[in-house]
Amino acid sequence: MFGQLYDRALTGERCWVRRDDGRVSRLPVHNWLGGRHADDRFDTTIVDMCEGPTLDLGCGPGRLVSYLVQRGVPALGVDLSATAVRLARSSGAPALHRDLFEPLPGTGRWQTVLLADGNVGLGGDPVRVLGRAAELLRSGGRCLVEFDSAAIGIDVGWVRLESASTIGPWFKWASVGIDSMPALAAEAGLAVAGIRHIGTRVVATLAAA
Ligand SMILES: C[S@@+](CC[C@H](N)C(=O)[O-])C[C@H]1O[C@@H](n2cnc3c(N)ncnc32)[C@H](O)[C@@H]1O
Repeated sequence: MFGQLYDRALTGERCWVRRDDGRVSRLPVHNWLGGRHADDRFDTTIVDMCEGPTLDLGCGPGRLVSYLVQRGVPALGVDLSATAVRLARSSGAPALHRDLFEPLPGTGRWQTVLLADGNVGLGGDPVRVLGRAAELLRSGGRCLVEFDSAAIGIDVGWVRLESASTIGPWFKWASVGIDSMPALAAEAGLAVAGIRHIGTRVVATLAAA
């Protein structure tokens, strides 16, 4: 989905995101890689919010999984990008190279599922992504979902990665505002358990029945 350019971005190529309406934004790959560019306040807070065995869907290079494991919390990342999974594993984060919609270990038994960094918008279908999270959780488990604090409603469109040398394929993406969260949660069979603002970012806790 993100394609080869995403893998190259993770290993240092400067990339940006173009939307089909012409908007261009930076690909915040440095935040995902952790280190001095990471949003430490966000990362520490969301890791504090995780309870019990935690599955990070679209874990990228695995910084959140790595923090969890360092704290002794059982955690697993899942990502479609082979480079992301390799980087995750090299930082001590267990990670599976797999589509999050394919069969995953522990289905129906995870205590926490993470959807950070806008991953609720993967594939442009937030109900499908939240429904998948609900399926993975145990009864009473919670999904921690970051919403886009700059978005209002659900902005579904086509985006692609670009660099100075390459243009990647278009893929569908949704930017999902927190105002849409109650309806999306209800559609996915999850109950709203709380909303937490972390600096300029916002995370909802959604509980499985
Ligand atoms: C916005 S980035 C989030 C980065 C990540 N949360 C981090 O902290 O580095 C989205 C990630 O989801 C992955 N991804 C996209 N579609 C996926 C899918 N269907 N299954 C698993 N991972 C997916 C991408 O490869 C990418 O690493």
